[in-house]
Amino acid sequence: MLNTIGVIGLGVMGSNIALNMASKGEQVAVYNYTRDLTDQLVQKSSGKAISPFYEVQDFVQSLQTPRKIFLMVTAGSPIDSVIQSLIPFLEAGDVIMDGGNSHFEDTARRYDELKQKGIGYLGIGISGGEIGALTGPSIMPGGDKDVYEKAAPILTKIAAQVDNDPCCTYIGPKGSGHFVKMVHNGIEYADMQLIAEAYTFLRKRLALPVEEIADIFESWNHGELKSYLIEITAEILRKKDELTGLPLIDVILDKAGQKGTGKWTSLQAIDNGIPTSIITESLFARYLSALKEERLNAQEILTGPENDQAHLDKELWIDNVRQALYMGKVCAYAQGFTQYKMTSDLYSWDLPLKDIALIFRGGCIIRAEFLNVIGEIYEGQPNLANLLIAPYFTEKVKDYQKGLRKVVSEGINSGISFPCLSSALTYYDSYRTGMSNANIIQAQRDYFGAHTYERTDADGFFHTNWQS
Ligand code: 6PG
Repeated sequence: MLNTIGVIGLGVMGSNIALNMASKGEQVAVYNYTRDLTDQLVQKSSGKAISPFYEVQDFVQSLQTPRKIFLMVTAGSPIDSVIQSLIPFLEAGDVIMDGGNSHFEDTARRYDELKQKGIGYLGIGISGGEIGALTGPSIMPGGDKDVYEKAAPILTKIAAQVDNDPCCTYIGPKGSGHFVKMVHNGIEYADMQLIAEAYTFLRKRLALPVEEIADIFESWNHGELKSYLIEITAEILRKKDELTGLPLIDVILDKAGQKGTGKWTSLQAIDNGIPTSIITESLFARYLSALKEERLNAQEILTGPENDQAHLDKELWIDNVRQALYMGKVCAYAQGFTQYKMTSDLYSWDLPLKDIALIFRGGCIIRAEFLNVIGEIYEGQPNLANLLIAPYFTEKVKDYQKGLRKVVSEGINSGISFPCLSSALTYYDSYRTGMSNANIIQAQRDYFGAHTYERTDADGFFHTNWQS
């Protein structure tokens, strides 16, 4: 019997996707550049419909036509190499899918190249980490709609399901699926940093023990902050180090890594004039964290406020932090969804913002209760410019800005840095300012460079001879 789908790239993510497909009734052919990973998967998959192949040609010829081949290969040139190795054995109508974190512009290029040969190409954003890949990730496919239709029965089956709906939807043309995944990761960076800052306030300023902070996160996870990242943070804080018996968090070196998708999100925003300051601030927070030795040195040299901090009422401030975190998250998601909207308009992608919010409800790393609300908002207002002006969030932030302002001010006064919380507040205050100070910038530009300015009371561009 011919196989219904092929998977290339059998690292943890690829193996788990193959196992997921097999468990949903697919006959899965698998291939890896090196034999060892293929053999490991075969050992793990006893009883499952997984057939190993050790030559690309055999692998391809084992597939039903139109062939569907899913790549879970390291992003970058390895994807191009695998595609080149497949092309001689493929026919028009076959479909290659890239499920890795490829840059969306690379995906668009590959799409164009393969389209000329009649081969369909889907750039598929996949979120959910190793467990999601195995049990049901969130899936963001981009490419031609008719090509997507060929793969949709498999993709929707292996995706996470929420309220009987698959967390998989057609995103749009070319690289749009990978674009949506990229910005998902930008939001993920901001969300993670905001949570880290909430933890910092509770730990450093309220001086709460780690176990109590775990309880607070757990209780927040029963309310409107309910989300995967809050849930795992509670679990992380409960974990003890086997060597020392200390909370494991206290022996983890404070140097954050990153693989590049958050950076790509910021670069794309900067290239296209999209204000995503919170997301970018979370990236810079990781960069600054990496300068550990410099920070240790600076700690000995640079001073902060005197240590005469006033006592803070615990319960009141825990709730201030909760409000601050919620509002920070709303602002970060507002930026991410603005990036979707502005880029969608730029490329005429017609991104389905409502569906994007809904497929983020399950499987993915940023899955959160309030994505239900975001989905409902875009259902009613598909062209909404910014989530902050949706009545639901306008009402929420009317209240919660008080908590955010208190936490950020307390951070400033006590010398504890809250890069994303303060950036969220700055974004909120800037966004709601109808008359900004950019008139000064324009005047300065015109003064030293004759760059011209527009007037508030007339159309056109003007130049003033400032020194006359
Ligand atoms: C996901 C994640 C995943 C991401 C890792 C690493 O949605 O499953 O976003 O795709 O690559 O979390 O990201 P960083 O190493 O850049 O933090």
